[in-house]
Amino acid sequence: MVLVSNPTPVVSSPTPGQTPTSQPLEASTQGPTSLPGVEDVMGVLRGVIDPELGSDIVELGMARGAVVQPDGLVEVNVALTTSGCPLRAQIQRDVRARVGNLPGVTKVKIHWSELTQEQKATAMAKARFNVSQNAPDTTVPTTTKVVMVASGKGGVGKSSITVNLAAELAQRKMRVGVMDADIWGYSVPRMLGVEGRLAGVEGEKKIVPNEKQVGAGVLEVVSMGFLVDKEETALMWRGLILNRAVKHFLEDVRWGQLDYLLIDMPPGTGDVQMGIAKMLPQAEMVVVTTPARSAQKVAARVASMGRSNYLRIAGVIENMSEFVDPQGNSYPIFGSGGGKELAEELGVSLWGQVPIDGSVATGGDEGTPTVLGQGSGPAAQALRQIADRLLEEIPKIDMAGCTARIFEAANEALANLEITAS
Ligand SMILES: Nc1ncnc2c1ncn2[C@@H]1O[C@H](COP(=O)(O)OP(=O)(O)O)[C@@H](O)[C@H]1O
Ligand SMILES: [Mg+2]
Repeated sequence: MVLVSNPTPVVSSPTPGQTPTSQPLEASTQGPTSLPGVEDVMGVLRGVIDPELGSDIVELGMARGAVVQPDGLVEVNVALTTSGCPLRAQIQRDVRARVGNLPGVTKVKIHWSELTQEQKATAMAKARFNVSQNAPDTTVPTTTKVVMVASGKGGVGKSSITVNLAAELAQRKMRVGVMDADIWGYSVPRMLGVEGRLAGVEGEKKIVPNEKQVGAGVLEVVSMGFLVDKEETALMWRGLILNRAVKHFLEDVRWGQLDYLLIDMPPGTGDVQMGIAKMLPQAEMVVVTTPARSAQKVAARVASMGRSNYLRIAGVIENMSEFVDPQGNSYPIFGSGGGKELAEELGVSLWGQVPIDGSVATGGDEGTPTVLGQGSGPAAQALRQIADRLLEEIPKIDMAGCTARIFEAANEALANLEITAS
């Protein structure tokens, strides 16, 4: 029966005219950097979600194969449900960003086509199946951009950056989720000035996040701090529970229609990363580091763990950069250059440098992130620019004008098919 046929991605051979090598994917002999395999490319493409259909483009049969050329050019074949859909730009960006992020890739070329009626029907059936049978893996909307804020070690300002970016996005009229996955060292509730136990939803086994209104925007916050009475209790929890708690936050929390979900990751630890990568393949990672060389090394390790889980590294943020006194003299207290070097090493961009600024610490203690306070300090300014960068690099999904069209077309295709197939 046509509807359940599995759209196995076609892995085509190099385009005619090019000298085919016996092993075009293993070009490690060509240079110092080895190239990714087709399976790595397909692996990262699983992180590209069609926001409309709610599944990844490999699963939906929209990613129809890839070719890795010896010079690092990766050609990807993508078939859309409807060509000319505004989501094309979104998918294009995601494919480029994710594939381009693989080590050794020099260029990404996308060959576009449109799914045939039959393939479209298959994709729809898959999407429906996922929705009905496979109970969605998470309660995070597929239209939500997920950003993991990670660091190699604690104390680099990961939580401060998470809450400030979240607050800044909310201030710009967005609905932003903050998930405090740093189960042992949670600090998000205090830093955002949000408290109170999490409430359940009547009749459903779901938890509602605590909310904080920020101007016209909203923060939805979930933290271990809302579930335990004392910090010491959380400290006694061990790894297994840690993973379970994170899973719980993604499966059982009734998140609203978030534009962004920022996750304050526990430092290091690949297993939490892996768990999140599995449940939210669309997640992307930003790595926070201090200017010190030693910090750069551990941060690089956390990034490489991310990559091995097919997570895209979207950028680097340097925190605790030079302190500038009112006279304009600068003091590189924690060293300098670490952020830039890390970004270069990872082949991603440095989103910005947040200077040492007392308002970050006082804002955190008072529950008002510095970007919400007077907001004129050097750190607040830097954080605002970093929020601009985030919006550029991980743009919010705009669904307007797409939904009805695709569903109509696909439903029509499906109806036709059911008639002819019977
Ligand atoms: N740019 C900064 N300037 C001054 N103090 C900072 C800055 N960033 C973070 N801090 C302070 O450093 C400490 C550690 O930051 P935190 O965000 O809790 O780090 P992490 O989450 O990585 O452990 C906190 O007391 C915080 O207020
Ligand atoms: Mg923290």
